[in-house]
Amino acid sequence: MKIEWPDRPNESVGPVLLDSQTIRNRIRKLGNQITRDYRGKIPHLIGILKGASIFHADLVRTIQLDLSYDFIAVGSYGKLTKSSGEVRILKDLDESLEERDVLLVEDIVDTGLTLQYLVQNLEARKPKSLKTVALLSKPARREIDVHVDYLGFDIPDKFVVGYGLDYDQHYRNLPDIRILQKNADNCHE
Ligand code: IMP
Ligand code: MG
Repeated sequence: MKIEWPDRPNESVGPVLLDSQTIRNRIRKLGNQITRDYRGKIPHLIGILKGASIFHADLVRTIQLDLSYDFIAVGSYGKLTKSSGEVRILKDLDESLEERDVLLVEDIVDTGLTLQYLVQNLEARKPKSLKTVALLSKPARREIDVHVDYLGFDIPDKFVVGYGLDYDQHYRNLPDIRILQKNADNCHE
């Protein structure tokens, strides 16, 4: 797919790190694993907006069980490619978590701050169980040792876009995951 990007002189979309077929195959495996692990249960998959929306939509369709889902939105990086160190809820869940087997679905675990914050926040709502799913993880950047129960891929310390992941709200619709190349000096130092 060739997308005509607007004029963004400070950055360019670099090489493909994970192509759409590779992503699809890995998600099918995660879905099969979740299907086996949650047999007899009705998992409740909470997608973290906006980045995880595409992963969440593809993942739920690989799970061969009755399930329900909801979304939560947290404060984003804005224009920066590194964490602000602050997490806040911008849109809360619609439904209670009591008696639910919750799977929290994240796009990427970087420092671990976002996932850790949400795990603590959701635990306080007394779900029956709570596990975490992430498509990507950058272990080299981890500051908080948060547990990921179902992980798609470990990736190197590069800023990536596509498949729901953005830079400054752009590139989410790229079907592959690509490395963003920055010319400005506000990338990872
Ligand atoms: P953490 O709180 O530092 O773990 O950051 C998690 C959030 O940072 C993710 O939900 C993403 O929104 C964002 N993020 C971290 N790394 C990347 C990246 O390489 N590309 C796009 N977004 C990223
Ligand atoms: Mg995110």
